[in-house]
Amino acid sequence: MCGIFGYVGTRINAGQLVVDGLKNLEYRGYDSWGVACKNEQGDIIVEKDIGKISTVDSRQFSQRCTQALAHTRWATHGGVTKKNAHPHLSTDRTIAVVHNGIIENYQELRDELKNKGHSFLSETDTEIIPHLIEEEMKSTEDFASAVRRACKKFKGRYALLAMHTTSQTLVAARTGSPLIVGVGYEDGPRPERGAERRVEGYFIASDIPAFMAYTRTVQYLDDGEMVVTDGKNVIFTDIENGKERPKREIEITWTVEQAQKGDFEHFMLKEIMEQKESIARAVNQDEEQILTLAEAIRNAKGTFLVACGTAGKACMASEYFFSVIAGHHVNFAPASEFKLYHHFLQPESLLIVVSQSGETADSLEAMKVAKSKGAKVLAIVNVKGSTIDREADYSLRINAGPERAVASTKALTGQLAVLMLIAYAMAGKLKNGKTLLLETSSMINDMLNPRYIERIENLAERIKTKEDLYIIGKSWNFPMALESAIKIQEVSYIHAEGFAGGELKHGPIALIEEGTPCIALMGNDEVTTDILSNTIELKARGAFTIGVAPQRNEAFDEWLKVPDAGHAQALVNIIPIQILSYFLAVKRGKDPDMPRNLAKSVTVK
Ligand code: AGP
Ligand code: GLU
Repeated sequence: MCGIFGYVGTRINAGQLVVDGLKNLEYRGYDSWGVACKNEQGDIIVEKDIGKISTVDSRQFSQRCTQALAHTRWATHGGVTKKNAHPHLSTDRTIAVVHNGIIENYQELRDELKNKGHSFLSETDTEIIPHLIEEEMKSTEDFASAVRRACKKFKGRYALLAMHTTSQTLVAARTGSPLIVGVGYEDGPRPERGAERRVEGYFIASDIPAFMAYTRTVQYLDDGEMVVTDGKNVIFTDIENGKERPKREIEITWTVEQAQKGDFEHFMLKEIMEQKESIARAVNQDEEQILTLAEAIRNAKGTFLVACGTAGKACMASEYFFSVIAGHHVNFAPASEFKLYHHFLQPESLLIVVSQSGETADSLEAMKVAKSKGAKVLAIVNVKGSTIDREADYSLRINAGPERAVASTKALTGQLAVLMLIAYAMAGKLKNGKTLLLETSSMINDMLNPRYIERIENLAERIKTKEDLYIIGKSWNFPMALESAIKIQEVSYIHAEGFAGGELKHGPIALIEEGTPCIALMGNDEVTTDILSNTIELKARGAFTIGVAPQRNEAFDEWLKVPDAGHAQALVNIIPIQILSYFLAVKRGKDPDMPRNLAKSVTVK
C-alpha cells in the first residue's frame, strides 16, 4: 500500500493541505514521501525525501498554490532512496506523477522510451509513467487523453495521479488499487433545496481520511476508470473506451478510524482482502539480497527459525519448503521454548526470527540469546524500524502494509511467500519461485470474489453454534491446520484444534461425534490420498467434513474450492479459513479486530 493525495481548486494552500492530509493515511505505512506543487508561474516544484511524512513540517509548503499532489511510498521496485521517492517527472518537467501498485511491464515500456531518447533518474517502475504521458502529449493537446492512452499500455495493478504545468486539471486512474474523490463544497449554510451548491475544489486520495477535514461528500473511482477535475467540474470516464461514467455523490458518516476501514466493517476482513496485493509485494524482494541470504543459510552450521503464534506456523511450513524445494534441513522452535533449546547454537549458526510486529518479547529474547552465542540473525518482519528489524544482522520485509487486526492474516501469507522464495533461491530456482508465487497471488485475487465470500459466510452460519471444531492437514498443510486453529480460536472463541492427519488415529479421533465440524486442508500432491483417507475416517464417525481442496470429493459434506497452487498450496488454503474465522466471530457477536484477552503485539513474556 501507499498514500496518494491531490487537490485542485480555489484554496491557495494546496501544498500544505496535501501534506497534512497524507498524514491521516499514516496507517497505510510508507518509507519515503514527496510533494509536487504548481507555483504562481505555473512551474511544478517537487520536494521529496526518505523517512516518515509525520515528521514533515507542512509549513514549508505554505507558498501560494492551488494545485498539488503528494505521495507516501511503500517501495516495491527500487530501494528506499530520495531518488526513488515519488512524485516522478517527465524529461521536460511539465508532468508530475504519483503511483500506487506495480506496472508489471515497466521494463518493456522503459526500453521503448529509452529508444526514443528518454533517460531515467530512479530504479522505480513508476518513473516510466510521466515519460510515457510526455510521449503521448506529442500527438494530443489534451492532457487527460494522453494519460488515458498511457494507461492503456500498462499491465498490473495501479492507482495514479498526475498534473501538468499548462493544464489546470488533476487526472487520476485506477486498476486494482483504490482512489476516492472528495467533493469540496463551499462551507456555510446548505442552499435552499434544489439550489446549486458551490464547489471550491476537488480532492483525490487513496483513502477518505486524507480529506475528511474538508468534506464528507465522496465519489468512488472504480477499477478501469479515470477522473479529470479542474477544481470546478469533475468527469469520470472508462479508460478503455473513454465513455463518461456518471457517479453518485455519497455522504460519509464514518469516523476517521472507521474510514480507515474503507468499505469494510472490520480491519480483519479488509486485511484478508488486501492479500490480493500484499503477496505480490512480499515477492518483490531485492533478488541479490535473497540470493545472499540463501547462501548464508546453506553455509551456516544449522539454521533455526523462531517465532510465536501465527508467525511460528509460517516457520513450521517453511521446514517443509526448505526440505522439499531445497533439500535443506532447518529447525523451527517456538520462541518461548528457546530458553532451554538453544545449547547447540554456535557462532556459525544462523537464527531466522519471523515477526509481524518485530516487537514480540519471546522472539526478541530468542534473538538476544542467539546473538550472545555469536550466531548471525536474519529478521523477516513487517514493521520497518521495529526492534527485531533494527537489531538483526540482516532484515527482510514482507511489505504487507500495517496490520491492524489482532488476528494476523496478510502477514502470514507474506511470511510464507518470503520463506518460500528463499527456499527456491537455495535450490537455484529463484525465478521459478517468483513466478509460482506471483501466479498464486493472481489466483488468490480471482478467488477473493463476492460469491466465494458469500459461500463461506453461509458455512459460518451453519456451524456458528458449534463449540468444538477440528482441522487436519499433512505436510505444509499441517502447520496450516495449526494456524487455522489459532485463527478460529482467537476471534470466535470456538475451541478449535489442529492435527496432523496421520495423528488422528493415535488419539484425537476419539473426540469426533455426530456433526462435529472437521476441516481437511489439502492440495493436489503426493499426500492427498492420505489426507483424503483421514477425512473419510472422520466422516465414518459422523463428522461434518469440510474439504479445502482443488477438487471436490465425496468425502466432503462441504467443499471450499481453492486453486491448485503446487508448492504454494499453504498460501491459498489458509485464506478461506481466515474468512470463515472472521464470519464465525461476527455471527457469534464478537469483535474480530479486538478479541478478548489478546493484543496485537505481545511485548511481554
Ligand atoms: C496471530 O493471529 C496472533 N495475533 C498471534 O499469534 C501473533 O501471530 C503472535 O503474537 C506473533 O506476533 P508477531 O508476528 O508480531 O511476532
Ligand atoms: N511500485 C512503485 C514504487 O516502488 C509504487 C510503490 C507504492 O505503491 O508505494 O515506487
